[in-house]
Amino acid sequence: MKHGFGIIGAGGIADVHARAIKAINGTGPSGVYDTDRAKCVSFGQKYDCKAFESPDDLCRDPDIDIVCICTPSGHHLEPALMATGEGKHCIIEKPLEITLERCDKIIEAGIRNNVIISGIFPMRFSDVNKELRKAIDAGRFGKFVLGDIYIKWYRSQAYYDEVKWRGSMKDGGGGAVMNQGIHSIDLLQWFMGKVETVCAFTSSPGHADIEIEDTAVAALKFSNGALGVIEASTAVNPGFFRKIEILGTKGSVVLEEEIIKTWQFSEEEPDDQLIRDRFSGIQTSGGGVSDPKAISDEGHIRQFLDITEAIETNRKPAIDAVEARKAVEIVLAVYDSAANKRIIHL
Ligand SMILES: NC(=O)c1ccc[n+]([C@@H]2O[C@H](COP(=O)([O-])OP(=O)(O)OC[C@H]3O[C@@H](n4cnc5c(N)ncnc54)[C@H](O)[C@@H]3O)[C@@H](O)[C@H]2O)c1
Repeated sequence: MKHGFGIIGAGGIADVHARAIKAINGTGPSGVYDTDRAKCVSFGQKYDCKAFESPDDLCRDPDIDIVCICTPSGHHLEPALMATGEGKHCIIEKPLEITLERCDKIIEAGIRNNVIISGIFPMRFSDVNKELRKAIDAGRFGKFVLGDIYIKWYRSQAYYDEVKWRGSMKDGGGGAVMNQGIHSIDLLQWFMGKVETVCAFTSSPGHADIEIEDTAVAALKFSNGALGVIEASTAVNPGFFRKIEILGTKGSVVLEEEIIKTWQFSEEEPDDQLIRDRFSGIQTSGGGVSDPKAISDEGHIRQFLDITEAIETNRKPAIDAVEARKAVEIVLAVYDSAANKRIIHL
């Protein structure tokens, strides 16, 4: 079934949305709106779609049934309220919003208007992460012992200077944890379960004139008794591939981006070698390690397919707004712990 997509916010990630729409729909977006008129018009020309003069007009357009919200992270709520108020389904970029109050308003708006809202976490749709989740669901790790993520990336000062919200917490929810680390934080909680306690430190050793942290470490305790760490930075030169370690009493998996470094269980299964072979190799590029534009479209395409199927069959999408809120809650606990020098119980 064909859907009519509108995009609000025609910046960097909007291109990925436009290409994902084309891939699943055959045609690109039906319309776009951006507060920057020149950007709006040029995006409209690029994707041969209508450049709306106001977000209300886009949200009222009868040809549009799904609105993609690609505005800066602290500006997701207002377009979401507008779109859901017009009965449109919403796809909202990560993070869902930058405070829990604003996340909850989005969740309530979806329920009130009986529309589907999906957050975006494309990494959950990658083949290797799906295999890992299957192994977890099958109980192959025994008891979880440690769940760790390391996102040691590099962003230049120019990256923060060129777009102000990236360095601002109040305006845009930048920050190495909220902006870059959140993808892996979502994966970690999806694999390990609920985070119960957080103790964190944040700092900004690598960049001048930014309000937000460019480096953070956090110790975690999960509800199941396991412990873990988050290390996130955008100040590490040259930047390293993202690493996730899920370690249990009966098995452990270590991934670097999409590559398996360890896939070892005390009870080996016939498919294990196939899985190791399929995801072995050397990661040579990508992952946004030092280039924010190095994002593959594939995760968005898979997630858009999930969302349109959810709409067509009237089921929840894999990452509805309640699910997307979970990572925001952990990020905010990291900030609260670091700012107030205390242990946060979620
Ligand atoms: N999933 C991913 O991998 C990924 C990658 C990058 C960014 N993002 C997320 O996408 C969102 C946008 O990031 P970006 O890098 O594209 O930012 P960007 O700054 O490149 O683009 C944002 C656009 O929104 C416009 N805008 C600002 N306020 C607006 C408003 N109220 N209404 C309409 N337009 C408005 C700006 O003019 C700009 O063109 C953020 O939430 C970010 O976290 C996700």
